Amino acid sequence: MNYFISTKMIEKIFIPDSVSKEEKYAALIPQLKSLTLNEPDMIANISNIIAALTDAFNFLWVGVYKVGPSLNGIGKELVLGPYQGPLACTRIGYGKGVCGAAWKQREIILVPDVNNFPGHIACSSFSRSEIVLPVFHDGEVTMVLDIDSEHLAAFDETDKKYLQQIVVLIEEKLNVDA
Ligand code: SME
Repeated sequence: MNYFISTKMIEKIFIPDSVSKEEKYAALIPQLKSLTLNEPDMIANISNIIAALTDAFNFLWVGVYKVGPSLNGIGKELVLGPYQGPLACTRIGYGKGVCGAAWKQREIILVPDVNNFPGHIACSSFSRSEIVLPVFHDGEVTMVLDIDSEHLAAFDETDKKYLQQIVVLIEEKLNVDA
């Protein structure tokens, strides 16, 4: 007897061209929900979310940093996770840079001009603006979603609103898989 295993996969995310940023996000988010629906592996889900965001918006850098044990064994620090874009720094301390600040302050940080953010960590000299969103699990920040743009003031309340929905999608998966 032959067995055929059906693996239903979305291989393409459809994002309409020449529409507003809001419309792009509105088209993207339901597709991300379907893409991640039946997949419990967080690395797979986060990697696809990052690829889809890069594809849709052509950001300079999209990725996550996970809270993990420090190299020196004392406390925790952010450790580079899946990403797309130029090579990035591997570890970021608590409160350091925009990522470490979002972790410490437990809130979204929007940076219209990275040169005006004290302590900004420049992984790429092309980065001009940035948004970092904390991801929570059991009340603790367990990772941050970091997005960089080559353009000044690329991120606004629209990005904040829709990227937060993507963070909630990740958080829901974390809670289910725990
Ligand atoms: N700019 C970030 C560092 C990470 S890179 O942008 C990928 C920061 O200041 O935390």
